[in-house]
Amino acid sequence: MERTFAIVKPDAVEKNVIGRVLNRIEEEGFKVVAMRMVNLSRTDAEGFYAVHEERPFFNDLTQFMSSGPAVVMCLERDGAIAKWREVMGATNPEEAAEGTLRKQLGTNIERNATHGSDAPETAATEIAYFFGGIDLR
Ligand code: CMP
Repeated sequence: MERTFAIVKPDAVEKNVIGRVLNRIEEEGFKVVAMRMVNLSRTDAEGFYAVHEERPFFNDLTQFMSSGPAVVMCLERDGAIAKWREVMGATNPEEAAEGTLRKQLGTNIERNATHGSDAPETAATEIAYFFGGIDLR
């Protein structure tokens, strides 16, 4: 079993589709290990996306991620990291395959509905950014 970290981003919460994302998560065989709605401060978002600090989109991204509530989750499944990335689709919704969450629910590369960890190390760091030991048993 593997764990990954997922976010229903502020654009998807605004569109009232938390339930659709959760439905898909359950249909794809993930177990929701931990889940919480959060209102990130700008500093929280900057800390979470610190690896992108030098990228030109960092300011817009952290502004957007702190613009409204989001839902953060720890998901578990065989091959959870790769599977969640497959279910989300490409980062840019315009390039995402039919049937993927970002194709169905995303607006553009910034407002792309969901986030998922890209590797085991980032999954561990991202899960620990939001959840403590008591949440993850
Ligand atoms: P996410 O998977 O949350 O990881 C970083 C985010 O930066 C990404 O999804 C996009 O929403 C956002 N982003 C904005 N512009 C770009 C870009 N040009 N390339 C990659 N990611 C971008």
